[in-house]
Amino acid sequence: MITFKKSFKNIEDQNKYNAYLNDHVNIIGEIVEGEADYLDNLGWFSVDKWANEGFLSQFKALATEIREKADVFILIGVGGSNNAARSVIEALQVDGPEIIYSGNTLSPHQFNKVLAQLEGKSVYMNCIAKNFETLEPGSSFRVLRQYIINQYGEEEAAKRIIATGSRNSSLEQLCKDNGYTFLEFPEDVGGRFTSMTSVGLLPMAVAGLDIDAMVSGARDMQQQLHNDKTIDNQAYRYASYRNFEYENGYKVEMLASFEPQFRWFNKWWLQLFGESEGKDSKGILPTYAEYSEDLHAIGQFIQDGSPIVFETFIDVKKANASLVVKSDDKKDYFDYLDGKDFWQINKIAFEATFAAHSEKLPCAMIEVDEIDAYNFGQLFYFFQFACYLSCTLMGVNPFNQPGVEAYKQLMFTSLKK
Ligand code: PA5
Repeated sequence: MITFKKSFKNIEDQNKYNAYLNDHVNIIGEIVEGEADYLDNLGWFSVDKWANEGFLSQFKALATEIREKADVFILIGVGGSNNAARSVIEALQVDGPEIIYSGNTLSPHQFNKVLAQLEGKSVYMNCIAKNFETLEPGSSFRVLRQYIINQYGEEEAAKRIIATGSRNSSLEQLCKDNGYTFLEFPEDVGGRFTSMTSVGLLPMAVAGLDIDAMVSGARDMQQQLHNDKTIDNQAYRYASYRNFEYENGYKVEMLASFEPQFRWFNKWWLQLFGESEGKDSKGILPTYAEYSEDLHAIGQFIQDGSPIVFETFIDVKKANASLVVKSDDKKDYFDYLDGKDFWQINKIAFEATFAAHSEKLPCAMIEVDEIDAYNFGQLFYFFQFACYLSCTLMGVNPFNQPGVEAYKQLMFTSLKK
């Protein structure tokens, strides 16, 4: 279960937020119906469309084969084509092949580092690219494909290379010509909304994550959010709070948590909201903090700097681990920690931070039951749905990204594409 919690310091602000919620609540129904302009981008809306039993069995079978044979699994993709998988693999993987990320940089230093990491290992690779024109994944696929062919020969290489791309794309043709396994990148799902499709789920399964639980979490969240068209809809409350604070002059949202397991999930969230909402000279700049470390960095600005930031904390209810501080006969002046569990200490740091920051800036909390595949599935769907709502409240199209074309044209001209 995901609960959005927001309290206000004074009744006047509380009333204004309640009025905002009541004024815009019809938007939930409009979105659940699926807005006509966006129907080509709503393939993610019903989780079962691209993550039904048939697809899950296919991904699990392929993943089992890869897990048996691979020491290393290279995941090529950039932006929405790898962020979801990485966000949970980095949080939850406990066994299986080492996952190496590529296709997200043009740095030769990084390419050489990846190539060095492959030496002497059994390598499998999945190249994910919806529009197989993006420079980073395209160039990376070339370099790493050449490496694999060089190591194993064409025939064996073909068994180790998987590509996820659009139907009838040049990537599909490349797969047909060379015998690589091809998976469909859903045409009606944009990169940053692909968590519960082949794009996210195959790499997650290769990393040994429970994709059945992940999908079940997303499906349960879909039901919850589609069925509640009142101001109690938790994603609607979150999306409204974002827009409410934006209209009050807060242009930056910081997603904060006290759990490093959310490190890459923060990055997924940043891309989802940044690329979806930042357009037409509008949008909230998404950023994130990993506390308690960042309390010693950005914490000063948050508490005391320009009043442009509002903060959304992710709070986890169930402990993910336990470590009790033992007493010590050496005098280090930390005796006040004796017998306390780090889970409790971290929680106290969170509560103190939330209370202190709430005195200075708008703060809210997204409460999640625990850190596991099911709850990550819930979070993926919750934020995707909230992002769609938030963009609609702001009056921007969530599903395009016209602003990233300008640099590409200049770059392609210089590269003589
Ligand atoms: O979310 C998006 O749509 C983008 O971030 C894309 O995923 C990203 O640009 C990569 O696109 P592609 O897979 O077509 O190379």
